[in-house]
Amino acid sequence: MKGGSWVFAIALLGLAASWYGSVLYPQVQLGRQTETRTVPDGQLYPVARPGLAVQGGEVYRSEGCYTCHSQQVRQEGVAVGLAVTDAGTNLTELVEAILTVAPQWERTRVAHAVANLPFQVLDGVSPAEAGAAQKQLEAAGARAVITVRPLGPEMERGWGLRRSVAVDYLWDRPVMLGSVRVGPDLAGVGSRIPDEQWLLVHLWDPQIHSPGSMMPPYRYLFEVRPQGEGEAADALALPEGAGPGPGWVVVPRPEARALVAYLRSLQVTASLFETPVVFPPGGGTAAGETQGQEAAQSLQP
Ligand code: HEC
Repeated sequence: MKGGSWVFAIALLGLAASWYGSVLYPQVQLGRQTETRTVPDGQLYPVARPGLAVQGGEVYRSEGCYTCHSQQVRQEGVAVGLAVTDAGTNLTELVEAILTVAPQWERTRVAHAVANLPFQVLDGVSPAEAGAAQKQLEAAGARAVITVRPLGPEMERGWGLRRSVAVDYLWDRPVMLGSVRVGPDLAGVGSRIPDEQWLLVHLWDPQIHSPGSMMPPYRYLFEVRPQGEGEAADALALPEGAGPGPGWVVVPRPEARALVAYLRSLQVTASLFETPVVFPPGGGTAAGETQGQEAAQSLQP
């Protein structure tokens, strides 16, 4: 029986270790997450979804959208940079200072850029370099901000401004992370496709916007009514040949409206302490055409 107690002890140890690893440790690490504040604005985050969007989350769940769509954005790193946001009074001195910290720019281009701020002077440098350059430009009387641009193929596709973090899902019950990407990640679809009509038409027939799409149509989320009955103002504007034919209109049912409200509420844009995103306020300029600004613009409606 001596061997038996060893087997028991080792089995118990194995179970205890896996319970610690997969239950206790994650709970200690993430279980007490609370609302946080965005940096540097200090807004409360995340904000609970509006009621219609919460109902839409249930439709998303019951239709099994998560079997083809994930809701988790990954990131590979960040590019730290420096952007001038306020030129101060001595433009000549500022141009000289910019050319010292960033000799790759042409003088004429810099002169044009300082008159059309913000100007992304540096991108993809170390935090120390950005800090040193910031001091030099501020000594020339300008105001400069250190920018942080998340990098990775998923940022380039516009799936989110940054990676997803645990607090993003604080109000989601259940969290619908998904594990398969037959279709694009939807964590930030609300910023990528804010257009309600586009989303409704896509649910009626994905082939209209994406010929050859593998996404099934969700026609039963719509009602086909004879034209002139009820509020035709709600009717979808479908291209020729995509609707039920002349004399009929397609009106979204409440489930479709709720689902679209949910999709529009999905965003990955907040800049948080654990995953900062800092673009110069005001967006791109003539000389500041960096990828980050393009990414930020592509996320704007
Ligand atoms: C069989 C897999 C599958 C299912 C189930 C599915 N989709 Fe899709 N979805 C796709 C594919 C593939 C695409 C990309 C092609 C396209 O745009 O249709 C897509 C695209 C989309 C897009 C456009 C995203 C973009 O960035 O262009 C949205 C929005 C969307 N799906 C929402 C939904 C919703 C909501 C549901 C559930 C009602 C759902 N999908 C169910 C496969 C699926």
